[in-house]
Amino acid sequence: MTSTLIAGNWKMNGLARSIGELEAMIAGRSEVPDTVDLLICPPATLVAAFALRAQNTGVSIGGQDCHAAVSGAHTGDISAEMLADCGASHVIVGHSERRADHGETDAVVRAKVEAVWRAGLVAIACVGETEAERDAGRAVEVVERQLDGSLPERATAANLVVAYEPVWAIGTGRTPTVEDVASMHAAIRLVLEKRFGDDGGAIKILYGGSVKPDNAATLLGVDHVNGALVGGASLKASDFLAIAKAG
Ligand code: 13P
Repeated sequence: MTSTLIAGNWKMNGLARSIGELEAMIAGRSEVPDTVDLLICPPATLVAAFALRAQNTGVSIGGQDCHAAVSGAHTGDISAEMLADCGASHVIVGHSERRADHGETDAVVRAKVEAVWRAGLVAIACVGETEAERDAGRAVEVVERQLDGSLPERATAANLVVAYEPVWAIGTGRTPTVEDVASMHAAIRLVLEKRFGDDGGAIKILYGGSVKPDNAATLLGVDHVNGALVGGASLKASDFLAIAKAG
């Protein structure tokens, strides 16, 4: 793997004035190795302004979700084409908060990945088990099923990133052991290679869930961890840059 992706998911946080935080990230970009790609996914209301500000800075901007259709009677939704039109390069799809809060199934997520590709953008498809599923010894089986159902054919290293985010590690300060991360990422790699051949070996697999400056180097050092999807710690430029420097 030639590069690492450190992606920030701002979730439902950020107002117009938060562009100052993006500017601090851009200012600190030069201290982050060239082999580390930076991506910030602000709420949809900020994508256009952020993308304009981040042009040619080495920080990319993405969306957090999209509708599967190009356009139409879907009040409140936005399409992948609209995100592309605003200057987004990536779209997160199938985050566990979307799956839980909006009942998104693997089939829905798969249609959204197709929509992201239709718009010419990179999909970051999220998978991850709940605590009950892990306790029942079913974590790998659950994630494999989510991958099977959520990833369309035609995935390549250029159009897809997979994010493994154990639901119980999100926003809790808890992380899986290095051994658990290693075995899950190896299992995901196997699924990707079986389905997508050589490309499956090159598709980035991010770890997400309570990534912080003090655990980033350890998590990013695990085999088949090709970057991080960062929630809370991506809201502050100093924390996000500290994580990126560990990449
Ligand atoms: P936290 O880093 O806040 O645990 O969130 C992880 C996440 O859900 C990123 O998509």
